[in-house]
Amino acid sequence: MRNPIIAALDVPSAEQALALAEQIAPAVGAFKIGKELFVAAGPDIVRRVRATGAPVFLDLKFHDIPNTVAKAVASAVRLDVQMLTLHASGGSEMMRAAEKAAQDTAKMLGRPVPLVLGVTVLTSSNRETLAEIGCDVDPEQQVLRLARLAAASGLRGLVCSPLEIVALRKILPTEIQLVTPGIRTGSEKADDQKRTLTPREAMEAGASWLVIGRPIYAAENPRAAAEKILESLS
Ligand code: C5P
Repeated sequence: MRNPIIAALDVPSAEQALALAEQIAPAVGAFKIGKELFVAAGPDIVRRVRATGAPVFLDLKFHDIPNTVAKAVASAVRLDVQMLTLHASGGSEMMRAAEKAAQDTAKMLGRPVPLVLGVTVLTSSNRETLAEIGCDVDPEQQVLRLARLAAASGLRGLVCSPLEIVALRKILPTEIQLVTPGIRTGSEKADDQKRTLTPREAMEAGASWLVIGRPIYAAENPRAAAEKILESLS
């Protein structure tokens, strides 16, 4: 079985990210680089993490006109990332352009096509947040609507909350990969994640990959924490 743990390198500098990556690499399946680290350390941090041999998930959540998103995706493929994100609310034309750019650029470079993941509704949004921007629907309905749109636009994966996995599995083609943050083991301090599952529960519900940040990087011993999570999955 492949290791489904994606460790979020949610730290502010390249040095901290590389030290963390080196420490936990044997116990995780991939690393996620998000906005905090990317804006601080630039594309070079992607190259340096890739140089360790581990797959990289570039979580920059693109949302722009289709041409701009397509070009950003092409740049990400040239950086040799294995997963990247965009907002499904950018619409089908934007998502099709992104998927096409991923396919075409990977083909040109002779590399596997990275997984372009659609983000539906951010877990920080609720009914009021959606109403505020003119979307008078339940967040759950909007998640399903955007998930269907992403799949119909050719995306092969989605980011979702652990509590959305079961509903999404019912409506999506089985080959769609679901990447799930909001994972807690129960032994860490309470923080801002409110709707969580354990790693094992999320995998049993149908997650393909687990994005895990604080339960690993904020643990006293990040390597031991990652190993324990991996063991809990076997
Ligand atoms: O520390 P924690 O395990 O909560 O980290 C989860 C990671 O997943 C963070 O990088 C966070 O930005 C990201 N994420 C999330 N919830 C979402 C989407 C992304 O926690 N809905």
